[in-house]
Amino acid sequence: MQEIPPAVPAIIRWLNDSSIGTGIRESIWTFPLVEATHVLALGLSVGVLVWFDLRLMGLTMRHQPITHVHRQVMPYALVGFIIMFISGGLVFWSEAVKCYLSIFFRIKVLMLFLAGLNALIFEMTTKKTIVEWDKAPVPPLKARLAGVFSLILWIGVISAGRATAYNLF
Ligand code: HEM
Repeated sequence: MQEIPPAVPAIIRWLNDSSIGTGIRESIWTFPLVEATHVLALGLSVGVLVWFDLRLMGLTMRHQPITHVHRQVMPYALVGFIIMFISGGLVFWSEAVKCYLSIFFRIKVLMLFLAGLNALIFEMTTKKTIVEWDKAPVPPLKARLAGVFSLILWIGVISAGRATAYNLF
């Protein structure tokens, strides 16, 4: 066990050493179950969202209205993201110091924020004119870019999440 550097904030140390954090980390079953839930929920969150991104890019389901694809995938993606945040929060709780010190975890948080921002911008601006291009096989550039950014950022979140697992301090 390495010594915790003094720069680590008290809240992070507290989370890491709390009975819940220690309990998850040291349990034979809890940690793998929470981490497995986190990984499996990828299929329901990003795995489902990808189809909407590809439709936005004009690459799949070109003859389906975009609102139709949106309506079908979003409930599943939403449930997936709720599970991702809860399970991710629990894994973070148990490894707060490691995550705080991990460059990959910081990259992941930044990319998560940017993915959220990209989705927010799409919902607040680009989607306002969707009636004009709902049935277009290839949507306008702004919509296509939202799909491309989303795809790139989620690949980044997943890669950085995977890399965190190997980033020991
Ligand atoms: C919502 C989108 C998210 C995606 C796509 C995602 C993706 C991933 C992936 C692929 C892993 C690697 C799992 C493994 O290698 O076993 C991972 C691990 C992890 N994630 Fe997430 N994650 C997300 C959200 C979150 C959130 C919101 C948090 C924290 C608040 C979080 C915290 C963690 C932690 C602590 C790990 C464990 C790293 C380790 O094993 O050392 N994740 N994530």
